[in-house]
Amino acid sequence: MMILDRNENKEVVVLLGAGSMGTAIVRRIAAGKKILLGDISEKALERVSHEFTYGGYDVETQIVDACDEQSIRAFAEKAASLGPVMYYIHTAGASPSQASPEHIIKLDLIGTSYAIDAFGEVMARGGAGLIVSSQTGYMPHALTAEDEEALAMTPTAQLASLPCLDGSKTPNPGAAYIVSKRVNQLRVRTAAATTWADRGARINTISPGIIVTPLAYDEFNAPGNTYQNMIDCSAVRRAGTSDEIAAAGAFLLGPDAGFITGTDLLIDGGVIASLKSGRFNLHVR
Ligand SMILES: NC(=O)c1ccc[n+]([C@@H]2O[C@H](COP(=O)([O-])OP(=O)(O)OC[C@H]3O[C@@H](n4cnc5c(N)ncnc54)[C@H](O)[C@@H]3O)[C@@H](O)[C@H]2O)c1
Repeated sequence: MMILDRNENKEVVVLLGAGSMGTAIVRRIAAGKKILLGDISEKALERVSHEFTYGGYDVETQIVDACDEQSIRAFAEKAASLGPVMYYIHTAGASPSQASPEHIIKLDLIGTSYAIDAFGEVMARGGAGLIVSSQTGYMPHALTAEDEEALAMTPTAQLASLPCLDGSKTPNPGAAYIVSKRVNQLRVRTAAATTWADRGARINTISPGIIVTPLAYDEFNAPGNTYQNMIDCSAVRRAGTSDEIAAAGAFLLGPDAGFITGTDLLIDGGVIASLKSGRFNLHVR
């Protein structure tokens, strides 16, 4: 069998959540590197690794449950065993139409925090992380400033015990999703100044608006006209694509963003501007 790449000890690009946006980001940055893909779905891993392999990329896979600390830690160990971990991309998540509030908190909030912790222990100096949050992180929620401080700073193992996560402020999947995505931004800000800074690695979030992916299609089919209203009230008057997120992701992960860490890039076609200026009302039906 022909050997397509004779290089050893290549930089490692890790993706947890082998879905639409994650794979689009990886495709932009991973030529000549080693890719490690993690996902809970064996089928998704098979399909995506086949596409990458036949596209000329060097890829390995591991089943990971992004809700489970041990599973995430095993994934980080596997990544470190492959070579210098230079890139970590986190897109494992469930949207409001796909899961209960409890599951969204477990996956999108607490699991993501565990991943930020675990990869903060294995990143190579000069490496970069990207956590995909959401425009919903900018939407109205029930958290106070004190709640946000606690959610930013509390060790991950104790997050579930915080009174603000007892369910009273996240009574439905939408509220749980908004809070989780806000917390992604807060945890990244803290990690950028502490664990990731100590390793000489950068970490940022991207907060996408409506991006056409299978996950978004589940939302389009939800009752109500919210998504149509968001598109109609936005400056660009259309949904976005995974490739547009990938272009920004590649920038934030790459050398041109070497001075950028602990920040969030909102990429929403103007939906949040429209909401904040009163042109769009979230409760319009
Ligand atoms: N598509 C949008 O409009 C949109 C907008 C804003 C934010 N987001 C966020 O972006 C991220 C990626 O979304 P996408 O649209 O590319 O979705 P996607 O459904 O294409 O990808 C998500 C991936 O996460 C995996 N996953 C789900 N649960 C998991 C678990 N427990 N462990 C490991 N993997 C798991 C799924 O199998 C899937 O491959 C999500 O966090 C989503 O909330 C999406």
